[in-house]
Amino acid sequence: MQTDTPNQLSPTTIALHWLVAIMMIGLLATGLYMEQNEIYALYPWHKSFGVLIAFFVILRILWRIKNGWPTPVSDYTAIERLLSKIVHYLLLIGTVLMPISGFMMSAMGGHGVDFFGIELVARNPDPADPQQVIPLNGALAQIGHVVHGLAGYTLIAAVALHMIGAFKHHIIDKDRTLLRMTSFK
Ligand code: HEM
Ligand code: HEM
Repeated sequence: MQTDTPNQLSPTTIALHWLVAIMMIGLLATGLYMEQNEIYALYPWHKSFGVLIAFFVILRILWRIKNGWPTPVSDYTAIERLLSKIVHYLLLIGTVLMPISGFMMSAMGGHGVDFFGIELVARNPDPADPQQVIPLNGALAQIGHVVHGLAGYTLIAAVALHMIGAFKHHIIDKDRTLLRMTSFK
């Protein structure tokens, strides 16, 4: 299978990057929107895509381990290299923590998790009032909720820095950093 070179990233790296990036941005935006506006109809969609992305995230991490990180396009300053490394790690760790914490919050909270209509974890209704649920483990649900929120906001900041970096390379440095991630050759 083709691997990354300094001039061109492999089709696997490009495809996995954009699949995960688009789903990530969509989930961050819908997550905040549905929670702040209490749009409960969006919850099952958010959970299903959240579970789906976990599959691509695992593939991407395995690919990163096998293929190594892409070498920078040119000799950037030490601080620039360090900053991009920190942001790339934050992005990767964030993509792992979000599906796990979301799953934990919903499953342990008793709300249940469906994957596009297939029941993965059943809802746990309160017999006294079936509209309400009883948590399976309130503490784990709470930890999941806190991590989901904190990691979510950290990721939004990391994605913003990451996009600024990508456009800085393209507009100011005028190098191939963005082009090698956007063009299949
Ligand atoms: C990469 C995947 C995911 C991303 C980026 C993401 C992002 C977000 C964000 C930004 C929020 C709003 C902030 C908050 O947590 O309070 C949110 C809320 C939520 N997410 Fe996710 N999420 C992901 C996966 C999941 C998964 C897999 C589940 C469950 C199976 C899930 C369930 C929820 C629920 C139930 C809420 C609403 C919490 C509330 O109403 O208080 N998420 N998500
Ligand atoms: C419009 C938004 C985005 C743009 C323009 C963009 C652009 C890029 C570019 C140009 C690279 C290559 C860096 C290099 O050559 O060293 C890259 C790598 C990377 N990006 Fe993005 N990206 C975006 C969104 C995202 C999102 C949302 C995530 C994850 C949450 C993400 C995670 C990563 C990671 C982990 C890498 C390291 C290489 C890899 O593992 O594929 N990116 N991005």
